[in-house]
Amino acid sequence: MPLINKTPEWAALESLSEAAAATPLRRRFSEDPARGEKYAVEAAGLYLDYSKNHFDQQTFDALVALAKAAELEAARKAMFSGEPINRTENRAVLHPALRDFSLRSYQVNGEDVSKAVARERQKIGAFVDAVSAGSIKGAKGDALDTVVNIGIGGSDLGPLMAVDALKPYWTEERRTFFVSNVDGRHLSDALEAIDPHRTLFVVASKTFTTQETMTNAASARAWLVEKTGDEKSVGAHFVALSTNERAVTDFGIGPDRMFRFWDWVGGRFSLWSAIGLSLALQIGHRNFDDMLRGAHLMDEHFREAPLEGNMPLILALMGVWNRNFLKMSGHAVLPYDQGLHRFPAYLQQAEMESNGKSVAMDGAALPYASAPTIFGEPGTNGQHAFYQLLHQGSDIIASDFIAPALSGAPLGDHHEKLLANFLAQPRALMIGKRLEDVSEEMKASGRTAAEIDALAPHKVFPGGRPSNTILLERLEPATLGALIALYEHKILCQGVIWGVNSFDQWGVELGKTLAKQVLPDIAPLNEEKAAVTAYDSSTNTLINRINKIRSENKSND
Ligand code: F6P
Repeated sequence: MPLINKTPEWAALESLSEAAAATPLRRRFSEDPARGEKYAVEAAGLYLDYSKNHFDQQTFDALVALAKAAELEAARKAMFSGEPINRTENRAVLHPALRDFSLRSYQVNGEDVSKAVARERQKIGAFVDAVSAGSIKGAKGDALDTVVNIGIGGSDLGPLMAVDALKPYWTEERRTFFVSNVDGRHLSDALEAIDPHRTLFVVASKTFTTQETMTNAASARAWLVEKTGDEKSVGAHFVALSTNERAVTDFGIGPDRMFRFWDWVGGRFSLWSAIGLSLALQIGHRNFDDMLRGAHLMDEHFREAPLEGNMPLILALMGVWNRNFLKMSGHAVLPYDQGLHRFPAYLQQAEMESNGKSVAMDGAALPYASAPTIFGEPGTNGQHAFYQLLHQGSDIIASDFIAPALSGAPLGDHHEKLLANFLAQPRALMIGKRLEDVSEEMKASGRTAAEIDALAPHKVFPGGRPSNTILLERLEPATLGALIALYEHKILCQGVIWGVNSFDQWGVELGKTLAKQVLPDIAPLNEEKAAVTAYDSSTNTLINRINKIRSENKSND
């Protein structure tokens, strides 16, 4: 398959792009009063309005044609059939199997994995129930009402995001802490707040070798042994979520306390697997299962809906259009729901680790852009921080606005105000405010001509800044599952169009290797180290400066 920019479909879109950018979005709406209903799609409890993007029907059809030229349908089939589409690691990509409760079989290397999935899901459910019922206890017989999830990246961001999002579903009296950073502060803060006798440490790591996680897990283990005075308490207070049985055993966690998943579950797609254990403990496994079911509904939609009405594909196509043809390098994710405050961070890993690539599947350099920079904050906080740039900055940034119509925490008229902002912001980005309107307004308020000349340009909003709007009835396990699955499939679609492998992450390796190399050169506190000269002059100077501070600052231990 040639690179996508060599296809006539790409060329067709290029020729449409100039006129598209020059047509004001507000004009598209005035010329087609039904545009807002026409360019919207509903699936799995989500409603996506993509009408506030720079396209007309001809461009939309050309985008769908681009997906066909990229053989999207075949790629989708290959994923669901367990083909090793993660080619650089020779692995299948089958996270949808984790959320399918039907009897459908999912094959990996000729083996049906659905039974193993069901077994592990059952083991998780039984464990969660037993902890909640108090039949699984701490070493001294206390109830385990506190969970500390130790993991990073995909072994942290998903469960953390979902625990926060699903607060109305929390199990009473249970608290969950997430520790990811190797900065000792992160673990210390959690340890200060917990009772060792009532705490379950959940070590979440696909590989069980990740430096940050293993360091935090070892320190948590040492702390527990010190507090309980009993090495054997580790067995009662630690569980592992991993694919690496040997490393888990070496750590001192037995097979009954290990929850498995498989190499065909990518780290950033692993929330649905045993990696969801902390979440399941916090919201109960029935709610966890509901989240899986919601994601499955989106899987079914993605599998079956025609391309023209396929929500994940449409979201992906709007992204490709903005990124490759309208040259937008940033994409803001703006949830109008405090529960989704970590959703942008979650998507940063999901999208940027998946599609932040610059070589195609066959190793050829990509001659076009791939994933944009993803960032975001919950509305309305972002409005008082970076929206200035969204509205008037020199770069045009596309945005996704996400909100539930019903609040999970109703309080007075808060939600009405939140929703008003959720609706006003994408409209403001789209329609903008013209110089003549600003001048007119200033004139009406009695400003002089000189004042208008000086100030009016600063008050102009160019408009034409595209956005998608995702509306949920309410944020609940099923709709959260569908929302996450929507983005997962968007990622697949974009990766297929860009021709990259969305399921490896070689770009994280070099930094890890260099950190290992530098580690022995960092002076232990209060110790002198010979001057380091092994690296570039910047790194050498920084290490030597750090070592000087560390050797002299004797009080800091
Ligand atoms: O950052 C690289 C990465 O491999 C991610 O893909 C993964 O989610 C994270 O590290 C954690 O890995 P593990 O679950 O193996 O500890």
